[in-house]
Amino acid sequence: MTDTIKELEKLHKNALSCSKCTLCKERTKVVFYDGNCTAPILFIGEAPGKNEDEIGIPFIGRAGQLLRKFLYDIGYTKDDFYIANTVKCRPPKNRKPTLEEKKACRHYLDKQIELVNPKIIVLVGSTALESFINDKKLTITKARGKVFEVDKRKYFPIFHPSYLLRYHSLEPGKPRYLFKEDLIQIKKLAQKY
Ligand code: URA
Repeated sequence: MTDTIKELEKLHKNALSCSKCTLCKERTKVVFYDGNCTAPILFIGEAPGKNEDEIGIPFIGRAGQLLRKFLYDIGYTKDDFYIANTVKCRPPKNRKPTLEEKKACRHYLDKQIELVNPKIIVLVGSTALESFINDKKLTITKARGKVFEVDKRKYFPIFHPSYLLRYHSLEPGKPRYLFKEDLIQIKKLAQKY
């Protein structure tokens, strides 16, 4: 086992008993990551939902299954990506995590990024976007499909798959079409960088 994987495991183990914010009180499981610890692409979502909280794996509910289906249909394999969230525990009733909760959890995410050291970080939805790109006027609709470079890291925002659950059309210009285009572009960029 490499030092990176050992360090990630240690971090994961620490997170399992974390009580740095009140989300620990109602969680069933800490949802730390899924995927390959040396992947070139790191996806960051918002927070675990009900299914994730029960099983302990990010993006396995309806929205997550949709994201995974897009990824596999395009030709991604599980080796291509690592998935985490801005917070590791489920906010009650699926509300958005607060600034305090995100701050309390941030060191886990920063360490995950440092250790996985991906070529590109995919910001899945507005909560992840706001956490990494400091521009209050920037919406996910404006930001998606573009590369942002901050402190030598490359970030690529995409729609959150829960948004796509409401829009089914794959016609050019529609959310699902743009989502697919973005995932194709991300794979190409990861090969180029
Ligand atoms: N939505 C997220 O942002 N993350 C998950 O893990 C599941 C749903």
